[in-house]
Amino acid sequence: MSFFFFSLFSLLLLFPLSFVSFTLGATLQEDEVEALKDIGKTLGKKDWDFSVDPCSGRNNWISSTQLHGSENAVTCNCSFQNNTLCHVVSVVIKAQNLSGTLPPDLVRLPFLQEIDLTLNYLNGTIPKQWATLKLVNVSFYGNRLSGPIPKEFGNITTLKSLLLSSNNFTGLLPATFAKLTALKQFRIGDSGFSGAIPNFIQSWINLEMLTIQGSGLSGPIPSGISLLKNLTDLTITDLNGSDSPFPQLQNMSNLSKLVLRSCNISGALPEYLGKLTNLEVIDLSNNKLSGQIPVSFDGLQNMYLLFLSGNQLSGSLPDWIAKPDYVDLSYNNFTITNFELQTCQQGSVNLFASSLKGNSLGNISCMENYQCPKTWYSLYINCGGKCITVDGNKTYDDDSNEMGPSRYRQIGLNWALITAGHFFDSGRPDYYTWSNTTKLAVDNDDPKLYMDARVSPNSLTYYGFCLGNGNYIVKLHFAEIMFSDDKTYSSIGRRVFDIYIQRKLVSKDFDIVKEAGGVGKAVIETFTASVTSNALEIRLYWAGKGTTTIPFGSVYGPLISAISVNSDFTPPSENSRSIPAGGVAAIVAAAIVIILIISIMWWKGCLRLKCFGSRERKGLASQTGLFTLRQLKAATNNFDESFKIGEGGFGPVYKGVLFDGPIVAIKQLSSKSTQGSREFINEIGMISTLQHPNLVKLYGFCMEDDQLLLIYEYMENNSLAHALFGN
Ligand SMILES: *[C@@H]1O[C@H](CO)[C@@H](O)[C@H](O)[C@H]1NC(C)=O
Ligand SMILES: *[C@@H]1O[C@H](CO)[C@@H](O)[C@H](O)[C@H]1NC(C)=O
Ligand SMILES: *[C@@H]1O[C@H](CO)[C@@H](O)[C@H](O)[C@H]1NC(C)=O
Ligand SMILES: *[C@@H]1O[C@H](CO)[C@@H](O)[C@H](O)[C@H]1NC(C)=O
Ligand SMILES: *[C@@H]1O[C@H](CO)[C@@H](O)[C@H](O)[C@H]1NC(C)=O
Ligand SMILES: *[C@@H]1O[C@H](CO)[C@@H](O)[C@H](O)[C@H]1NC(C)=O
Ligand SMILES: *[C@@H]1O[C@H](CO)[C@@H](O)[C@H](O)[C@H]1NC(C)=O
Ligand SMILES: *[C@@H]1O[C@H](CO)[C@@H](O)[C@H](O)[C@H]1NC(C)=O
Ligand SMILES: *[C@@H]1O[C@H](CO)[C@@H](O)[C@H](O)[C@H]1NC(C)=O
Ligand SMILES: *[C@@H]1O[C@H](CO)[C@@H](O)[C@H](O)[C@H]1NC(C)=O
Ligand SMILES: *[C@@H]1O[C@H](CO)[C@@H](O)[C@H](O)[C@H]1NC(C)=O
Ligand SMILES: *[C@@H]1O[C@H](CO)[C@@H](O)[C@H](O)[C@H]1NC(C)=O
Repeated sequence: MSFFFFSLFSLLLLFPLSFVSFTLGATLQEDEVEALKDIGKTLGKKDWDFSVDPCSGRNNWISSTQLHGSENAVTCNCSFQNNTLCHVVSVVIKAQNLSGTLPPDLVRLPFLQEIDLTLNYLNGTIPKQWATLKLVNVSFYGNRLSGPIPKEFGNITTLKSLLLSSNNFTGLLPATFAKLTALKQFRIGDSGFSGAIPNFIQSWINLEMLTIQGSGLSGPIPSGISLLKNLTDLTITDLNGSDSPFPQLQNMSNLSKLVLRSCNISGALPEYLGKLTNLEVIDLSNNKLSGQIPVSFDGLQNMYLLFLSGNQLSGSLPDWIAKPDYVDLSYNNFTITNFELQTCQQGSVNLFASSLKGNSLGNISCMENYQCPKTWYSLYINCGGKCITVDGNKTYDDDSNEMGPSRYRQIGLNWALITAGHFFDSGRPDYYTWSNTTKLAVDNDDPKLYMDARVSPNSLTYYGFCLGNGNYIVKLHFAEIMFSDDKTYSSIGRRVFDIYIQRKLVSKDFDIVKEAGGVGKAVIETFTASVTSNALEIRLYWAGKGTTTIPFGSVYGPLISAISVNSDFTPPSENSRSIPAGGVAAIVAAAIVIILIISIMWWKGCLRLKCFGSRERKGLASQTGLFTLRQLKAATNNFDESFKIGEGGFGPVYKGVLFDGPIVAIKQLSSKSTQGSREFINEIGMISTLQHPNLVKLYGFCMEDDQLLLIYEYMENNSLAHALFGN
């Protein structure tokens, strides 16, 4: 009846439009049109155009996907009453800057199955009236909704997918949720829920994906979880609460992603995990797991990622450990052989602080072979960026290296970087640095420091060593350069992480934008640290808080722009570097140490001498000469084959005649692009260990483009070759 009047009305007043609708044979029921008007008002949806039928798909009722994954669609089922009547079945308004509240009037769309309001500014609570709807898909991900979830929501037994993450919900999960037995996907996280994970989740027997991440809920993981046999993706992180044993997962034969990070799980890793052969990803970091890695894990042929960092696992490493693409065993109590201890990153395996022989601050067994070139009393790092000099005398080290999921890498002469985690579902290659040249608001600091930043998913650790003991002032420089300053996104997107110094929590739920007062603004956090074993550990840790997809998939976790560390005491004077009288060898050795330092800086991309303090430059000039590449080309007839006098493991050696007379030997180290830093350091190390009694004099060096060349005094007899080729 109402349909008849509506059509007649349309026919009379809006002839051309209704003609179209009429010929298509279906329009939205009038009640629902009125309901949409009220719903739009409550949500803050201003661009719905009621001059056309909402089911027509025209004029903003369905718009093509816009920037930032926004989506906008009202979808109808028009097969009612012989294909003449429509009902709304789905409302999707994603990332549309809605700033209202959830409309109780939604119940006036009785056929509604899907409501997706992902990434808006909606506040207020979930209306309990919705309980009468037969909803299947519900997403409120990324809003500002608060209050407890109404217990009536448990009546929506049709629910298959419920996404509630990144809101401000509080209270317990209602016990009525036990009735949601059709659920396939349930995600909560980044909220303020309280209480323990309820055991009633065991009734969600159709569940395939469960994510409880930084939700506020506490442990233990209930035993009933063992009944969720259809799970393929189980992610539970950052549970408060007491220790609990490993949950029973043996019946989850479809499980492919298992993430139980920071859940206070104690005891041994279960043998049966090795039988869940669909497992591709295992992240059990930061628990209290002990005992050995079970032999059965050998059977996990599909596993490409195994993160066991931050436990107390022991025993020796199994043979297959290097098979998965990424293995993180850092911060554990393994028994590792001397061979494995030689470096902290062995192929795909991160072994930093993984051995009981040495995993404490300042005593890391995989670093025990490292000889400190000197003692430092400061540390400057341009996190994620190239080496730069600030204020004329502070040189921030280069930190622009590629990193990967969960890797250790020594970058400076006195510091290393350790990443943990992997950006899942980012839909783009893993990134561990970010650059943004947009103008930044920076007071009292150099804006260049903030244009590049280091990022990492789960944690980011800077480990400084060879530091003089005493108290230090640690300054951490931050600016949010990944969020857009567009009002919408900067308000919804939140990056939240914790800061640890010397393994102690010094800042919880740190939020750069909040501290700096906006996106693209700098803030410096100052801490003090006591260095007692020559080591300083700065760790930024993501505890599951904040948004994870703004402005694109996988934007979360720690981000830092620069680090500056200075002793809070006057360092001993550096006169110890003065050259002992007598002996060319000593001069050469001293020069080589300086060249070693400079070469590594050069290799790291600090090509130009402006990267060195003026003191160092003066020192160098007095002991060795700096040659240009053009001079050396002239001396060797452009490195002509006929000038070559030999070839060592680390590059060719040429005889040359310098413009002012002397004959020299010029050693060309292989181009930096073809060498790993480790090999490079080893080679320089080999040169510096030469102890020939009448050691040749080092005249100087040249660093230009990709070239590093050392210039020695030329000796006619064969002793030069002996010396230079390291026999
Ligand atoms: C539309 O509704 C009819 C009647 O309830 C139902 O049979 C049909 O499956 C629905 N179509 C879609 C695409 O949901
Ligand atoms: C639907 O249409 C068919 C013929 O196309 C007709 O026989 C039937 O009565 C109609 N049903 C309704 C409810 O209008
Ligand atoms: C979002 O909404 C607010 C107020 O509702 C408005 O000031 C702002 O311009 C909107 N932003 C966009 C990108 O539409
Ligand atoms: C629910 O969401 C799933 C996944 O996006 C989709 O395949 C399905 O069609 C949706 N169901 C309804 C009723 O909207
Ligand atoms: C929602 O936020 C607005 C400001 O954006 C505020 O005025 C209003 O009181 C809030 N409503 C609720 C229910 O929290
Ligand atoms: C929810 O369902 C229960 C029965 O399970 C019923 O007593 C109650 O009235 C329902 N609540 C609403 C709001 O529909
Ligand atoms: C969440 O709610 C608390 C008060 O309960 C408030 O202090 C906090 O700012 C809210 N957080 C967000 C992101 O809205
Ligand atoms: C689990 O999945 C299978 C198919 O993968 C399906 O047949 C079954 O109904 C699902 N639910 C349970 C409880 O096994
Ligand atoms: C976790 O527990 C500690 C003490 O047990 C408490 O101080 C802290 O507030 C809790 N955190 C949350 C998020 O509940
Ligand atoms: C693991 O090593 C740490 C640090 O050496 C030590 O405190 C802890 O007791 C060890 N745990 C086990 C189970 O060996
Ligand atoms: C660095 O330069 C500033 C002035 O630009 C000066 O105040 C400071 O003492 C210098 N620091 C050192 C270590 O030379
Ligand atoms: C750079 O920062 C600006 C805001 O300061 C932001 O709008 C822009 O999207 C950022 N670009 C990149 C590539 O992150």
